[in-house]
Amino acid sequence: MTAPRERTVVVDGMALARRLREEIASEIAALVAAGHRPPCLAVVLVGDNPASISYIKGKRRACERAGMTSRELDLAADATQEDVIDFVTALGRDPGVDGILVQLPLPKGIDTAAVIEAIDPAKDVDGLTTPSAGRLLAGLPGLRPCTPLGILAVLDRHGIELAGANAVVIGRSILVGKPIALLLLERNATVTICHSRTRDLAAVVGEADVLIAAAGSPLLVKGDWIRPGAAVVDLGVNMVDGAQVGDVDFDAALGVAGLLTPSRGGVGPLTITMLLRNTLEAYKARTGIADA
Ligand code: GUN
Repeated sequence: MTAPRERTVVVDGMALARRLREEIASEIAALVAAGHRPPCLAVVLVGDNPASISYIKGKRRACERAGMTSRELDLAADATQEDVIDFVTALGRDPGVDGILVQLPLPKGIDTAAVIEAIDPAKDVDGLTTPSAGRLLAGLPGLRPCTPLGILAVLDRHGIELAGANAVVIGRSILVGKPIALLLLERNATVTICHSRTRDLAAVVGEADVLIAAAGSPLLVKGDWIRPGAAVVDLGVNMVDGAQVGDVDFDAALGVAGLLTPSRGGVGPLTITMLLRNTLEAYKARTGIADA
């Protein structure tokens, strides 16, 4: 028999994002009122990937609403690796730019790691350069990737206990899987990282008090894999027959999970919020301007 659906708290990521963005906006308004320039985020797009264009639109709108300046810099799909690296390097030298985000994925033929390394670590608001990743690994303060920060904001908002919890992460990307595993470890969870070669994924998932699904595989996690009452965070954004579905079978997880994020309106709005926060933090660190 399935448990009643109301046993599952479905996360409203937009409502939480709205509240956090208001805090960021009022901090920026105070800085501007004190005579400072607003923080500036530069977003670099190479090519015309439709999903990337849509993500960038959301980022631009969020910057405007927070009172932040944004610069969108588009390079043609046939730009060379040298062009992209020169461009990103120039943004690093520009004193009016506080944050640099290179939208991923980059077109085939461009070495993503080489482009990321061209980002000035002081402006690495995506937290992807090796200095940022190294600081995370070493437990030193620094800019952390935005989606993992968004996941923690959701879990904290809902009072999910992480110390001593069994946390299972499915996926090992540099954007989500690896950094969230380290952040959960920092919060004293017992962390297991699963991936495409993991044996008996269902059994591992069944041990999770906190499950982070970031595999990019539609409906991978079945309802009966989930431990009753677990906090389930779904990062999957997959299109199936024209509809967006997550990595978790949402309908089957209702009534089993204690907390569940939907594919749309779950962690996504918080990722952008954390990008705003990182840009504000980078601005403050670079300019030496503390709170107004
Ligand atoms: N593409 C999808 N998500 C992201 C992200 O968080 N940062 C960057 N740079 N590219 C992405």
